[in-house]
Amino acid sequence: MKNIKIAPSILSADFSILKEQVELIEKAGADWLHLDVMDGHFVPNITFGPPLISSLKKHSSLFFDAHLMIEQPEKYIKDFVDAGSDMITVHVETTNHLYRLVQNIKDHGVKAGVALNPATPLDTVQYVLEYVDLILVMSVNPGFGGQKFIENSLEKVRHLAAWKRMGGHSYHIQVDGGITNENVQDVINAGADVLVAGSYVFNSGNVGEAIQKLKSGCV
Ligand code: DX5
Ligand code: ZN
Repeated sequence: MKNIKIAPSILSADFSILKEQVELIEKAGADWLHLDVMDGHFVPNITFGPPLISSLKKHSSLFFDAHLMIEQPEKYIKDFVDAGSDMITVHVETTNHLYRLVQNIKDHGVKAGVALNPATPLDTVQYVLEYVDLILVMSVNPGFGGQKFIENSLEKVRHLAAWKRMGGHSYHIQVDGGITNENVQDVINAGADVLVAGSYVFNSGNVGEAIQKLKSGCV
């Protein structure tokens, strides 16, 4: 079995019982907890920030994967580290100084990821590949859960996987948006090893079963 990680996004969880929802996915075998942070500027939606992350951190031993969809992320790195993020992923579109931002995250002792919107070309991250722990390929336009998977994201994933092989890099390839039991196999075959799923996991009626179905697609 390939070493694939499932990272449920709490974006589609029931926020009134968030602690229970996180415990549920942890029991069901989730590997990472994907935290979608939105500021209403970079994306047309607002979610939550460091206080919610630090509250959940007290109740979970999952790996906390913070996906920052915010402008000026450099201002908030320390806050997200202090809140308990194990990985901080920033969007390449939000900074003129990607290298500096990646170093800033790593200097805080956590893992650093870089995300690309669907229309952002891969060469924007080419020269930081040796420094990052993860590249996030957005397979929907960021901002909302429950959208349809954009098929040509797979081509981006295949290119990233080839660059990883050729360059001897070790970054994870994460895919985020529109993942279901129906396309999980294609996403893995393209070369992804961390799969984010929000609405598929939380709107399925049975969180545990949904995670198991995703995992069985990983064999
Ligand atoms: C979108 C977020 C995703 C989203 C995934 O901006 O980054 O993590 O919650 O949700 P689904 O799996 O419903 O597409
Ligand atoms: Zn996300």
